[in-house]
Amino acid sequence: MTARSLIAALLLSLATTVLTGCVDDGMGTSPSSRSAPSDPATVEDGRAIAEAQCSRCHAIGLEGMSPNPAAPVFRTILSRYDQDVLERELIDGMGVAHKPMPQFQFDPQGTDALIAYLRSIQVTSPGRLLVEERCARCHAIGRNDTSPYPGAQPYRNLGQRWTRAQLRDALRSGIIAEHDASGVRFQMKLTDQEIDDFLDFLKSIETPDHPAPR
Ligand code: HEC
Ligand code: HEC
Repeated sequence: MTARSLIAALLLSLATTVLTGCVDDGMGTSPSSRSAPSDPATVEDGRAIAEAQCSRCHAIGLEGMSPNPAAPVFRTILSRYDQDVLERELIDGMGVAHKPMPQFQFDPQGTDALIAYLRSIQVTSPGRLLVEERCARCHAIGRNDTSPYPGAQPYRNLGQRWTRAQLRDALRSGIIAEHDASGVRFQMKLTDQEIDDFLDFLKSIETPDHPAPR
């Protein structure tokens, strides 16, 4: 067991105590009850919890950046968790990520509601997921937003600069970009599947003024 996973396990048992008021055997709850589609009232309860307790740091809706740039946006957060042990891992992840352990106030129903809400807002298209997770902290990915990182081109302009074939070649061999303001450079390379997903994404944001690469 690594130090990190040991801390995670300790925090999990703590989190279980805080969140449910009882210490269980640490094996988590059965996932089957969580996979059923959720009713709108449960989703709404979860949204209310997220609004009250998470929104001052995390972007909790379908768009926008997090108020705290270090806090991941909720619309892609579940992609990091194993679906079969989602509840346990999510709480585990919260325990590790939020030090010192904040006093989140919700009971087991609240956990279900929060997960139901998170499920309801998850991005499902692979291309959007890719750019939200790996590119959006630098590049503008919408129709009229500004790139967070100066010098990183908004994706809506790529069609004016590149053909599909050129962009494919560039992404396959790697694009050299600045990593941060200190001028550290990094090479960004995508697999063929990721390139297809990325090109699909560019298509999904095209407008007559800003066509996707041809
Ligand atoms: C005070 C600001 C703040 C609040 C409030 C907050 N978070 Fe976070 N959260 C963060 C930050 C910052 C991180 C990233 C920490 C890191 O990766 O080291 C994070 C990370 C997480 C992670 C781990 C993400 C991952 O997989 O890497 C989860 C899950 C999470 N938060 C859920 C929640 C939920 C649910 C709430 C509301 C009940 C909440 N957070 C409220 C700041 C906050
Ligand atoms: C840390 C910030 C950062 C991240 C993350 C990032 N980029 Fe970039 N990217 C840049 C910068 C800065 C440039 C401009 C480099 C230059 O012109 O020298 C750039 C340039 C590009 C270009 C060339 C644009 C042009 O018209 O010349 C493409 C395409 C690109 N990035 C795609 C991506 C993709 C796809 C991702 C995510 C998988 C990504 N980038 C993630 C900062 C970033």
